[in-house]
Amino acid sequence: MPKPVTHPPGVEHITVRVLGLESSCDETAAAIVENGQSILSNVVASQADMHAKFGGVFPEVASRQHILAFTPVVQQALAEAHLSLDELDAIAVTRGPGLPGSLVIGMNIAKGMAMASGLPLVGVNHLEAHLYSVGLSMSGDETTKPPQYPLLGLIVSGGHTELIFMQAPLKYRSLGATLDDAAGEAFDKVARLLGLAYPGGPSIQKAAEGGNPKAFHFPRAWLEGTWNFSFSGLKTAVLREVRRLEKQTLPLPVADLAASFQDAVVEVLVGKINLAARRYKARSILIAGGVSANQHLRQQAQNSATIPVYNPPLWLCTDNAAMVAAVGYHRYQHGQRDGLDIDVQPNWPISELASQ
Ligand code: KG4
Ligand code: ZN
Repeated sequence: MPKPVTHPPGVEHITVRVLGLESSCDETAAAIVENGQSILSNVVASQADMHAKFGGVFPEVASRQHILAFTPVVQQALAEAHLSLDELDAIAVTRGPGLPGSLVIGMNIAKGMAMASGLPLVGVNHLEAHLYSVGLSMSGDETTKPPQYPLLGLIVSGGHTELIFMQAPLKYRSLGATLDDAAGEAFDKVARLLGLAYPGGPSIQKAAEGGNPKAFHFPRAWLEGTWNFSFSGLKTAVLREVRRLEKQTLPLPVADLAASFQDAVVEVLVGKINLAARRYKARSILIAGGVSANQHLRQQAQNSATIPVYNPPLWLCTDNAAMVAAVGYHRYQHGQRDGLDIDVQPNWPISELASQ
């Protein structure tokens, strides 16, 4: 997505390096990105193992873990990039949406660093950051052709399922969102029902490899006439099936249940994004967020779309700070500078960004 920075002939190459900080959920992350595109370092300390015993993210545990992890994570990001703070141009930090207690930790680290170094502070939207994970690469890697506007974006993560129309860079219109569970949340909850490990997405994908997606016909909530999604009915249908099988004291056909559930989620996501792409005459489709790591979703989207489909590299689908630094670069170039008095925004719809 990021456009390469072009320079008039004879003008010295301008390099803008942004430090990104991310702590909206259960990943403590810091990264340094050059010109919104080349990753110089990308450090992620995941708390997933710690939350696995709760079957989901425990907010207070997350906040306290961010406090412990942030300093070493930032130090490592600077060391891996062989840079000191005075060689950077800005500090970008996730301002929301996310868990309030977790966001506050990252925000305060960012403010402290901005105050000590004099670097400008740029607060960014986590959902927008997911969109900018497409197009990032390790320094020196080949980059793909940037997506063409207008584009249709689908953000599918543990906290969000949003269909977005992007007329031009940094201009968003939210078309629809989930009315209940987010897609990733549905994966996590169904994994728990099936006795699979947290986070549920990768566990279900793995279990589904040996299963038949047609073994169970689970409902698809099309919510026709809207661009919204709903996954709670599907989750309840899986629960009912599990209870029915348990009553019969039959061993749970976990692979078939996982494959049938995954197929139901993917069919709706892909069906709706293709419909919306046609309706809005989009020239590219962009699917990002933790669930965009799902192989079945990636394949079905690629196979069915009539316009190019972009996904982040697998290792940038889940939360990271490189995407925060990337969108921070674009916002910084756009003139955004935040004061040291900004607050976090735990509920910050991407549609509100258009007015900035
Ligand atoms: O974007 P992300 O790291 O965090 C949020 O911003 O919420 O997304 C995490 C979510 C989790 O619900 C996880 O189960 C899901 O992404 N996920 C997947 C896969 N990998 C991660 N879902 C389906 N298939 C996957 N391979
Ligand atoms: Zn996320």
